[in-house]
Amino acid sequence: MKKIINVAIDGPGGAGKSTVAKAAAKELGLIYVDTGALYRAVGVGALKNGLDTKDAASVTEMLTDTEVGLKYIDGVQHVFLNGEDVSEIIRTPDASMAASNVSAIQAVRDFLFDTQRNIAKNNSCVMDGRDIATVVLPDAQVKIFLTASAEVRAQRRFLELKEKGSDEPYEKVLAELLERDYQDSHREIAPLKPAEDSVTVDTSEMSLEQSISTVVNLIKEKM
Ligand code: DC
Repeated sequence: MKKIINVAIDGPGGAGKSTVAKAAAKELGLIYVDTGALYRAVGVGALKNGLDTKDAASVTEMLTDTEVGLKYIDGVQHVFLNGEDVSEIIRTPDASMAASNVSAIQAVRDFLFDTQRNIAKNNSCVMDGRDIATVVLPDAQVKIFLTASAEVRAQRRFLELKEKGSDEPYEKVLAELLERDYQDSHREIAPLKPAEDSVTVDTSEMSLEQSISTVVNLIKEKM
């Protein structure tokens, strides 16, 4: 049987995790798993149901008839919510906030845990999120904490949104990013933090290509 390689990449929103992890996975022939998409799907589910995304009781209740899963179509990850492909609509700023809110609820984390664990058990993969190295895959062979200053991350997110036709002002993008950072790293359960044995990569001063090659080299060293 081929050895399974698991790479965990954690870090705050806008650090370039998904772009870097996706590119590194492609270069190394591993699958890329974006776990944020799962939390976003639950967040979007709560919004669709008109729920307060911070209300643990009603979100937990919703989970009893909610199905969230990942599928790979032509090598690209798609996320499904109750059979509907929600890969696009989970990317709005409202969905980001909803995801951050529901991700602080223990029942939501428990609900998504097995999906993440099973993918990593059966596939060599690069998995990105907030608690991959600390909670989901504590035995991952490679653990990377990818970060950048808040201003740089907000600028990148701002340009990304602008490219998609959004006119969100930079100040609003920065304020929401800071709020999400605070929330994700101060929550009681599985807060965002580097694992003791993870390598921190600060991409504030790096180009995308440099960030990718830094991560690819770190993975190659351990493979
Ligand atoms: O990576 P992202 O921006 O798509 O994640 C959206 C939210 O989901 C983020 O604010 C926190 C939450 N999340 C989490 O709690 N744990 C993960 N492994 C991934 C995301």
